[in-house]
Amino acid sequence: APVASGSAHAKVILFGEHSVVYGHTAVALPMFNLRMQARAWRTADAARFESAYYTGEFRHAPDFMAAPRAAVEAVLEQVGGQLDGMSVSVGGTIPLGRGLGSSAAAAGAIVDAVARLHGAELSETERFNLVQVAERVAHGRASGLDAYATTVAHPIRFRNGLAAVLPMRLSGRLIVADTGVHGSTWQAVEMVRSLRERFRRRVDRVIEELGTLAEAAVTDLAHNQIVPLGGRMNRAQELLEQLKVSHPSIDRLVGVARRAGALGVKLTGAGLGGCVVALAHADSVDTIVQALQEAGAAQTWTLTEAGAAA
Ligand code: MEV
Repeated sequence: APVASGSAHAKVILFGEHSVVYGHTAVALPMFNLRMQARAWRTADAARFESAYYTGEFRHAPDFMAAPRAAVEAVLEQVGGQLDGMSVSVGGTIPLGRGLGSSAAAAGAIVDAVARLHGAELSETERFNLVQVAERVAHGRASGLDAYATTVAHPIRFRNGLAAVLPMRLSGRLIVADTGVHGSTWQAVEMVRSLRERFRRRVDRVIEELGTLAEAAVTDLAHNQIVPLGGRMNRAQELLEQLKVSHPSIDRLVGVARRAGALGVKLTGAGLGGCVVALAHADSVDTIVQALQEAGAAQTWTLTEAGAAA
């Protein structure tokens, strides 16, 4: 039987997590060395999932499979396909719940595989909307940043559902380090929402400044202004701490990377665990990576300016 496949890469948010939910600019880069893959094929049986997380009948899938399940159902509705008689496998190397876009990449891979199994060509907008169906199940208020950033092969500047190519010239290196702690995007987004409900003026000021930092970073990135860029990353981390989405494991890696010579370090993704991203001169990368590993980082990755693994 023919097997259709799909795949999507990880992303790293440089600026604008959380503030992007409130209509401010965000900046994100692709991380090509981490991917999610999906396959879809026909079977004689009831619809099934196969994955490292759950293998079994679709209709008995546990709650944590709700988003992949929503992706399958949404794409079937779009292409006029039937659930019964289809199996879908999903998996890959993006660690789950670390702010690297695993849920959006899994949904994107599933959407592509199932659409291809039905011989359907989705437009970019159709695909985005289908991934967003799954992202809303996964996170509630999903800005769409992850859905775009895990699809397109270049850095993006994103605002209000629209993505633009971000021109980027950067002589420095970006290091991503995983705390190993799972952070829930749904919970983090919800915490910011309720904090804003209680302290509207104060929280709006913080969110606005995060947006301003992202806008300024667009210029820094285009002109290789790495020292101011690092300063803005450090300021963004302070503001994210004020939004209470940092975590002791994040604060620890941030401190370690700064002491080892990073120009700027902040959490990336929703926070409450997950990853940090650090900006460094190329010649201090080894020292910083070693310090992060000694401090207990579960994994580290070094990116070149295009978002590829160095
Ligand atoms: C999560 O990767 C990014 C958040 O801004 C949520 C979103 O944009 O949907 C925290």
